[in-house]
Amino acid sequence: MKRAEFLPYCRPALGADDIAAVVDTLERGWLTTGPLVKRFEADFAAACGVKHAIALNSCTSAMHLALIALGVGPGDEVVLPALSFVAAANLVLQLGAEPVFCDVEADSLCSTVATIDRATTKRTKAIVTMHYAGRPAAAAPISAYARSRGIGVLEDAALAVGALDDGRWPGFCTDAAAFSFYATKNVTTAEGGMLVTRDDEIADRVRSLSLHGMDKDAWKRYERGGAWRYDVLETGYKYNMPDMAAAIGLTQLAKLPANQKRRDELASAYIAGLEDVPGVAAAALGSMRPSDRHSWCVFPILVDEQNAGISRDALIEALRDRNIGTSVHYIPSHLFSAYKNRRHGPLQVTEAEWLKLVSLPLFPGMSDTDVADVVAAIKDSVPAASRSHAGL
Ligand SMILES: Cc1ncc(COP(=O)(O)O)c(C=O)c1O
Repeated sequence: MKRAEFLPYCRPALGADDIAAVVDTLERGWLTTGPLVKRFEADFAAACGVKHAIALNSCTSAMHLALIALGVGPGDEVVLPALSFVAAANLVLQLGAEPVFCDVEADSLCSTVATIDRATTKRTKAIVTMHYAGRPAAAAPISAYARSRGIGVLEDAALAVGALDDGRWPGFCTDAAAFSFYATKNVTTAEGGMLVTRDDEIADRVRSLSLHGMDKDAWKRYERGGAWRYDVLETGYKYNMPDMAAAIGLTQLAKLPANQKRRDELASAYIAGLEDVPGVAAAALGSMRPSDRHSWCVFPILVDEQNAGISRDALIEALRDRNIGTSVHYIPSHLFSAYKNRRHGPLQVTEAEWLKLVSLPLFPGMSDTDVADVVAAIKDSVPAASRSHAGL
């Protein structure tokens, strides 16, 4: 059966409050980094429980500045999972360092001390760990491992707004965590990111680097009583978040608990609906602790072709034919043309599992019927499911 209307993979949860906040900013006339960014940073730091939060124009920018603050440069290596978005690996190369891809553990699809250790050398300057799909990556043991070796840890928490890693937001035990507010994320500012850190030096450096290396932002210069003179402490970038984006970020953050609750409900409905489908299972849910909370930014499933009787690629086509959008998280970075012939550790789990991964639609505006349609479409497309349904 085909849905009458296309169900997209994602639709941002925007309401009248988000729109009013943007209009209000336009009417007040301060568009770039100013009081709303300051408030967004303060609210995010309070929600997160981490001392410093610095709003930027993307998670990629946040990771770039964090890697610089961790001292990553030519001759260094950075260990990071191949099963992730390519942003962090690109940054490492752009800094003149070498990305060394590590494997993930099958249970969580996250890197662990064991998978990281196989890729670590004397040249390892930093580790980037990623909360796959928004399931917490258990950062504490990775942080302890790195600290004992003098290696920095950056959490790629792009998908982890709303996630709890042993009861805490990412950033509580590592050097820094970078969140994304891209359009498909749990809190969006259209484009945007936040770097959180407990470290005063990293915070000061990232803040200055985000605005050309200046010692004052525009708000401090142009506000009543502001001083025109400024210094440039080092050559920086132009990565600051504008107030217009922070206006949406503030309303989005206020709605996070309600939207997270809806994501939890939708994910539970998927898990229950797919329980008896042979060869299909929700991905990366192994070894979750009671103190962990999934953000459900992404709902990936694993399609085991042998048991399901259909390949991952064919299931994506079958869902598209039934008017259902999907995505894949992720094409492993070492398979891209730009990364051919680069050294990496063993990647058996990554190479086996990514071929089975499909991400299903999940966003707060979805109805229970939408989930039921996706589950029905999967059951309809998986030959083993129709056979077991017919009692064969
Ligand atoms: C794991 C991961 N890291 C980083 C990013 C980049 O985020 P941004 O677009 O905010 O730079 C993404 C984007 O989806 C991602 O999935």
